[in-house]
Amino acid sequence: MLSTCNDLASSEKALYSSGRAQWQAPQRPGQERLSAAYTRLSPEELAASVWENKRQLGDRLVILGHHYQRDEVIKFADFRGDSFKLSQLAAARNDAEYILFCGVHFMAESADILSGPHQQVILPNLSAGCSMADMATIDDVEACWADVTRVCGASTIPVTYMNSAANLKAFCGRHGGIVCTSSNADKVLRWAFAHGERVLFFPDQHLGRNTGAKMGIPLDQMQVWDPRQPLGGNSATALREARIILWKGHCSVHARFTAEQIAGARQEDAKVNVLVHPECTLDVVQSADFVGSTEYIVRTIEQAAPGTSWAVGTEINLVKRLANEHPDKRIFCLDPIVCPCSTMYRIHPAFIAWALDNLVAGRVVNRIAVPAAIADQARTALNRMLAVA
Ligand code: 13P
Ligand code: SF4
Repeated sequence: MLSTCNDLASSEKALYSSGRAQWQAPQRPGQERLSAAYTRLSPEELAASVWENKRQLGDRLVILGHHYQRDEVIKFADFRGDSFKLSQLAAARNDAEYILFCGVHFMAESADILSGPHQQVILPNLSAGCSMADMATIDDVEACWADVTRVCGASTIPVTYMNSAANLKAFCGRHGGIVCTSSNADKVLRWAFAHGERVLFFPDQHLGRNTGAKMGIPLDQMQVWDPRQPLGGNSATALREARIILWKGHCSVHARFTAEQIAGARQEDAKVNVLVHPECTLDVVQSADFVGSTEYIVRTIEQAAPGTSWAVGTEINLVKRLANEHPDKRIFCLDPIVCPCSTMYRIHPAFIAWALDNLVAGRVVNRIAVPAAIADQARTALNRMLAVA
């Protein structure tokens, strides 16, 4: 079990040397269990196999990698980015026959929706989901929508964070709504308020609240919707007066950061710059010096002056990579015992080797294909976002 994960290298070594491929579990239905031909290979053998298959497939294959992937995976990516940049890339790279997505399930779905009909998207391990995305299901959102529409009338715009299943993006497409990412949430919310009186924002309450607060919306006009409570745990009056209804969801990685950790970092180094992702809680965001998406975090560190010091509140694989790439700056994770995103971590090089071996043999495994009716409506909401941002 991975626990104190600032030391990823030794965790990884332990997994390899245990003789048991623990990184395969838990399995999602449909995910084939890898044979010993893959689980017994050393990291070097796996890498050699991936590079050779990549060479053979040439321009027919493009590999996209989210910044939270570990170094042993991101090194294979032709392009790396946050979810917004990767969605733009998926829409732009219509020359590649296969898009191998090193990220999580909702990202691969968006790539399938935005890519051409001649392209096939592959997620190396189907178990790479997202705990936040799973916090909002279509049935619960439909039930919420029925209540909100009954209480407030037809004046609400649904906004789903990119980190959600395709059927929720489709829901937004058919109800005049839109998708946002952490790179463009403020622009998207401005678009939504130009089209309606209030926003139903799901599944990440923190991104919604942080963006609303940045726009000057008072906290008492942002109500949380708990899908397990009648009316989401709100009075009808509170819902009618709300500008934003925030789904009760969160990211298990970013919600771990605290204002106390920021105070500790400042106590240790008065000149430290605190840089956090907007999936963190409001008090963390308000205590930080800089707040922005993963791509913003990368850019801010790249542009920082040598000798500066940075406490970063985001996924540990990215923080460690930034620290390695910028030895002239002091870069460390705000949470000393933070874990990697456990679902991103399920993209192991062995799954990439397996998926590419199959591709070279003419078989597409783990294709992510969103049904056409869902994809059409989801594309409407995604294209609204791409036009706004
Ligand atoms: P971005 O890639 O939009 O920064 O989101 C972070 C994240 O949690 C991705 O799963
Ligand atoms: Fe989901 Fe958070 Fe992991 Fe992103 S970092 S995939 S939002 S759990």
